[in-house]
Amino acid sequence: MIQSEKYLQKEKNMKNILVIHGPNLNLLGDREKDIYGSYPLSKINEEILDLAKQLNVKVDFFQSNIEGEIVNEIQKAKGLYDVIIINPAGYTHYSVAIRDAISAVQIPTIEVHLSNIHSREEFRQKSVIAPVCKGQILGFGKDSYLLALRAAVLL
Ligand code: DQA
Repeated sequence: MIQSEKYLQKEKNMKNILVIHGPNLNLLGDREKDIYGSYPLSKINEEILDLAKQLNVKVDFFQSNIEGEIVNEIQKAKGLYDVIIINPAGYTHYSVAIRDAISAVQIPTIEVHLSNIHSREEFRQKSVIAPVCKGQILGFGKDSYLLALRAAVLL
């Protein structure tokens, strides 16, 4: 979708929230079910949309396996979105580029994870994204996203 089309779709009297799913989250439902659960991403997005309706906010989704595309999407979000909810997935642990994009646009951002990264391998326990976020919600499976949406409404 081109920028101007998105801009036209910005709801004037509603909070506009962008949900970004990072790499490999397109494989949810199939991927390491013991860690990430058996819900496919499409179902998680449906639940987010249902809750968004109840909370009277507008949500758009973006998923990419490519770091630069996520950076581009964050840059484009300026002026369009009031809050970003992001699961940076594997990029959480080392993407200075995604961190810098969040810092640059100055949109309040909530970091989300399905799993509790602090109880997993050592390399997952550090997030380079967290210091530039309002907060982190993690460890509640798909409900991490729903809790993040509720938090987004309060920002
Ligand atoms: C994840 C945790 C990351 O460490 C991992 O690389 C993912 C998913 C989560 O949601 O639990 O892909 O972000």
